[in-house]
Amino acid sequence: MNYNLLIAQIRSLGEACSWYCSLFSNASALLYEALPDLNWAGFYIVSGKELLLGPFQGKVACVRIPFGKGVCGTAAAEKRTLRVDNVHEFPGHIACDSASNSELVIPLFLNGIVFAVLDLDSPVYSRFSEEDQTGLECFVKALEETITV
Ligand code: SME
Repeated sequence: MNYNLLIAQIRSLGEACSWYCSLFSNASALLYEALPDLNWAGFYIVSGKELLLGPFQGKVACVRIPFGKGVCGTAAAEKRTLRVDNVHEFPGHIACDSASNSELVIPLFLNGIVFAVLDLDSPVYSRFSEEDQTGLECFVKALEETITV
């Protein structure tokens, strides 16, 4: 996957409108189109002690995730990327879509605080490689540098 191209595209979209809601919407659409074997791509936004559903592509998803719960809530609480090869083995995994088998969640920081997480789901086990993780972490960094709230 050419992550440099995706990063250039999101930066260019950010020049048109940097408001996080617009940019997260286009980021979800961009990733959902570009990355093969995804069944969900989107954002959860931190609100108090929970995450609320933000812009996404895919099926209807759960709206509230408490900090520390599921893959998304754990990534937000532990402030680190979680790359899960088999979500069924992840304690407390929240199954929004029973078709999901692997997941990648990357926290997005603003002023050192977790503002949101990028969540990607796949029906393919071990869908996300180390290279995907590195490329998508750079993609999230580009978002961090671009968004306005
Ligand atoms: N599976 C996630 C919940 C979000 S949905 O996959 C869109 C989790 O365990 O945090």
